[in-house]
Order: sequence, then structure tokens, then C-alpha cells
Amino acid sequence: MSGEALENLSHEDRVFFPSEKFAAQANGKADLYDRAKNDRDGFWNEQAENLQWDTKWSQVLDWSDAPVSKWFVGGKLNVSVNCVDRHVAAGNGSRVAIHFEGERGDTQTITYQNLLDSVSQAANALTELGIKAGDRVAIYMPMIPEAVISMLACARIGAPHSVVFGGFSAESLRSRIEDASASLVITADGGFRKGSAFGLKVAVDEAIEDMPSVKNVLVVKRTEQEVNWNSDRDIWWDEIVSRQSTSHAPQAFDSEHPLFILYTSGTTGKPKGILHTTGGYLTQASYTHRVVFDLKPETDVYWCTADVGWITGHSYVTYGPLANGATQVIYEGTPDTPHKGRWWEIVAKYGVTILYTAPTAIRTFMKWGDEFPQAHDLSTLRLLGSVGEPINPEAWMWYREVIGASNCPIVDTWWQTETGGIMISPLPGVTGTKPGSAMGPIPGISAEILDDAGVAVGHGSGGYLVLTQPWPAMLRGIWGDMERYKETYWSRFKSQYFAGDGAKWDNDGAIWLLGRVDDVMNVSGHRISTTEVESALVSHPTVAEAAVVGANDETTGQGIVAFVILRAGSEDGPGVAQELRAHVAKEIGAIARPRQILIVAELPKTRSGKIMRRLLRDVAENRTLGDVTTLADPTIMNLISDGLNSSSTDDD
Ligand code: PRX
Repeated sequence: MSGEALENLSHEDRVFFPSEKFAAQANGKADLYDRAKNDRDGFWNEQAENLQWDTKWSQVLDWSDAPVSKWFVGGKLNVSVNCVDRHVAAGNGSRVAIHFEGERGDTQTITYQNLLDSVSQAANALTELGIKAGDRVAIYMPMIPEAVISMLACARIGAPHSVVFGGFSAESLRSRIEDASASLVITADGGFRKGSAFGLKVAVDEAIEDMPSVKNVLVVKRTEQEVNWNSDRDIWWDEIVSRQSTSHAPQAFDSEHPLFILYTSGTTGKPKGILHTTGGYLTQASYTHRVVFDLKPETDVYWCTADVGWITGHSYVTYGPLANGATQVIYEGTPDTPHKGRWWEIVAKYGVTILYTAPTAIRTFMKWGDEFPQAHDLSTLRLLGSVGEPINPEAWMWYREVIGASNCPIVDTWWQTETGGIMISPLPGVTGTKPGSAMGPIPGISAEILDDAGVAVGHGSGGYLVLTQPWPAMLRGIWGDMERYKETYWSRFKSQYFAGDGAKWDNDGAIWLLGRVDDVMNVSGHRISTTEVESALVSHPTVAEAAVVGANDETTGQGIVAFVILRAGSEDGPGVAQELRAHVAKEIGAIARPRQILIVAELPKTRSGKIMRRLLRDVAENRTLGDVTTLADPTIMNLISDGLNSSSTDDD
């Protein structure tokens, strides 16, 4: 179909079909859908066989204890052996596993043999520090190879890791370390971002003050900045890791042995520790990475731009690509340092063939202008991916045309921290793609869209997205709170997993994701709960009450807008909003800093006292107000709207 003809179609009618050339070489094949449908267990059995197991499983799926599943029951394997040792054993030790690019231009080339040596040394060091299978290890790192090495070393000895994004505050880190009772924290003195060094060790010191459960802090020297040192507790990575032997005999763990905990925001103020286990998780991470990204380990150079602090970094930087023997790029810094063409320079430098990133980044590049990507040779790219939030059709088309030279399939992949791996996505070379649609569940996955009453809606209609069958990488629970697990995901619709997202089928049966239907915001692809930000705001002495909404934002998808009532006697001066924004950043992390804070005299509440966020969203997005009749006091909205002009504070 010509570009001109496409212009005249609505988004839903535009379909790009795979080229014959791509289809002929694709890992995904059309028959996968039928095979998976006709024999789900057999299909997943086959996928698991691509891994190296020490003991074969006796049963593919045990769902008798639903909603907790067991996959590959009785099987035993070691995740790090699958990600590293077996590639070396297969004669691929000299293949590059990681091309590391530091923000300041320093580089490292790490082969699979190098990775095996480093992971073995790190595993030996963890053992020397007394870490045993089952002990939790917190990882709070910049995007440097040691972050991946630490994760693999934990997996190697069966110690579940809890990676905490380096942008989170000391307070957020503290609550996560506490919740998982981690006994070791692996960190760095700091990292490089936006051209300067930021500190991490300093936040760890603050986080674990008076926390005797943390026995040691293992510190990578990255920036050489000054750090406080507690010699009873702190150890330099270089001192303990480099003197270890490069050989480490791995032990096989049960398929259901916990692999990691990753905290994500829910609808309450307390983040949920999402628990993932070993065999099923690795099976799905590896399968999806192979078919959705069409990985050819011998020739591809893959780059996923996510930080290891998020699930995308777990499944598609560390576990999926390494399980598949991929060569990948890891970049430490921000896209505009030292110039706005940095990513495209990296693509050209390493000959990146597969690029996986988030819509917020794509929209930012669109805004910066075509000249930055156009200044670099991007002709090696052959497949593009998107994740984290709905991608608007304009950004999708720009990604296709400007980055992909109208030559690369785009996989818009829907999934969650909880799902562990990709669930809904086109299959490149097999299915068509529509700009803005994640298309359909991949082979082996079943999804539905239900109405309020739990009845499946038909094509052309929308509702709530649910997953109707268990899948191998599904979460096995919420750390320390199984009741919350059942309540959050399994109580809304009987026996079906409620994802918390709205979605619709178009008339052709393609799925369009419509965003969250709960009080969770999505800012630059990161989940932040409104309650968490509200709690941070009311912890400030001047704040009496706060209500937070996610308002549409051209670049970040949603922006955080807070409505705040000050305590009597607190002054609404020009600096108040700024101070509150900084306070939230300190409490949670910079990603949660509100875009805008509006000081108001009242909040709109129903007669039962529930804040009507819908109305606040109307205000935040400058829309005409929706129905106000259920408000306890309908005149309040006038008060809020009138007050805004005088007290709103825009982003700096
Ligand atoms: O709302 C959906 C959105 O991100 C949420 C999951 O966030 P998180 O657990 O942080 O994982 C992000 C990376 C997998 C989902 O509930 N989301 C993720 N991918 C998409 C998406 N929304 C629309 N389209 C996507 N491709």
C-alpha cells in the first residue's frame, strides 16, 4: 500500500504486512498459533526444551493451587549456566555478550568467556560474604556491566535479587530492603548521568542506617567520588571480587526456586514485591526474545534501552538476551549527553540491528527533530520494538519512517512486571502491524476483553483486559502478602487475571491498549501510584490534604498533577509548590516529581468522602467538567477552577 493511500485510512484500518524477505527468515512461524492453541502444554514443553536443564520436569503445569502456578514441576536448572556457561561450552566464548558504552565515552567489550569469569568471581565473592541460596540481595546500581553480573551471580547461587532502580530515593530503597529483609546491598559509589556524577552509596548509607539485617554493602567504584566508609560493613567490589577464582561450580535449582523480587507500584502507598521464579520465567523470557525480536545470535546486535531497575531490564537486557546468546549494547547515560544524536551514534557505531525502547523516548526524539537520527547511518536496523505505554499512531509512524526507513517491522509489546515476559505483540514476519496497536496475544498466551459484568465483548468494543490462562513467567505472588496477590489480580473477574488495563478490539480483532483503569499513573513508561505521591505530599508539614492525578502529557504519556490543600497558617507563597515538588522527589525519587502542583482550598468529594479524580483530571487537562452531581458540594469545582489562575505553578 502506498504512503498516500495510507494517509486516507483511519489508524485502525492501516496495516503493514511483513515483507517476503523478512518473513522468509523469521524465527516466528504462522503455525505456532495453532500448535499452541491445540496443545498449550506441549507448546510450552517445547519452549522449555530450548533451555539446559539438569533434571527434566515431570509435569508442564500444575494449576491445582490456583492462582499460584507451578511450571515444569520437578525440573532443575541454573539460570546463570543457561545465560553464560552453555554458550561458552558450545564454542561461543569469544562472542561479544555486551558492548558497554559509558556516558563519558569509556567502553568495554565483554565476551561470553569474560562474562563467565566475572559471574563466577562475583558468585564466589557472594559466597565468601555468607550469602546462601534463598538469601535476598538488594542491587542498587547504575547501568554498568556489574549490574548484570551481580544479577547473574545471585541467580547462580540461588539468592533472589531485588533490583531497585538507581533513580529511587533513599527512603524508597529503605522500604524495599526492609520488605525483602535483604542481608546484602550491591551498589556503586555512583554513576554518570546528564554529564555529571550522581551518588548511590550515599543513599544506601541513609537507607540502611539502623538496619542491622544488612550485613554488608558491596561497592563498585565507578565515579571515584568521595564516599563515607564503614569498614565493618562496606567492601569494595574490586577488592573482594577480583581476587576470587574464575571457576565456580554451579548448583541446579528447582524450577520454582525464587529468582527475583521486583517492586512495582500498586494502587496503595505500599509497593508490591512481585515474585518471579526460575524455570517458567526463563522459558518465556527466552522464547519471547527469540520470536518477538527475531533474534539471530550469530549476526544481530540487539539494544534494549531499559534500565535493569525495571522489568524490561530484567527480561530483555539480562535474562532473555543472554539466555539466547545475544550480542547486546548497554548504554549508561541519557539520550542527550553530550548531544541529542547520542543514541543514533551508538546504533551506527555498533551496527545495532534490533532496537527496543519506550514511546516516551520516541516522542522526545520526534520533538528534537529528524536531523539528529538522520546524521547517522541507521541502515543496520532491521526490527524495532516499543514497550511501557500505549504508543500513539503518530509516534509509531515516525519510528517506522525516520528510524526504521520504512523497512523494519515494529513490535508494540504489551506486558507488565507481573507477567514477566511479553504477552501481546505482533509476531514479526508473520502478522501484520497497525500503528498504535499491540495486535494480539502471542502464541501460548490467551487474553480477553471483558465488560463490567465479566462478559467478553466483541470486535469493535472495549473493556477490561484479562489473561485467561496461566503462563510460564507469571508472578507467583506478592512477597509476604499472598492475600494482596489474590485480591489485586484474581478477585475482579473469576479465575482470570485482571491486568488493570483498559483495551478494545477493533473490527479486525486487533487489540488496542487504552491505559490503566486504576489509580496507577504511567509516566514515561514507569508505574507510579497516585496514593504513593499523595502520601509523600502529606508527609510534608505544610500539607493538610492532597489528591494526585495523571494528566495527558505529550511527551511522557502522563504527567503528575497534584492538588494540595495547605494546613491553616501555612503560606501559599511562590516557593511552596517548588518545595513540595522537591519533597516528593526526595521521598520517592525524581521520576515521581509532580509536573504541576495546584494549591486549592477544597477537593471535590462524593458524599461518602471519595475524591473524584475524574473531575480533577478534567481540570488538569483543561477540559470542560464532567458530571458533578454526585459531589457532596457541587460548588467546590467553581472554587477550584477560580483559584487555579492565581495559584498554579508550572513545571520549571
Ligand atoms: O498499562 C500497561 C503499560 O505498562 C503497565 C505495566 O507497567 P510495568 O509493570 O512497569 O511494565 C512496563 C514494561 C513491561 C501495563 O499495565 N504498558 C506496558 N506496555 C504497554 C503498555 N500499555 C500499552 N502498550 C504497551 N505496549
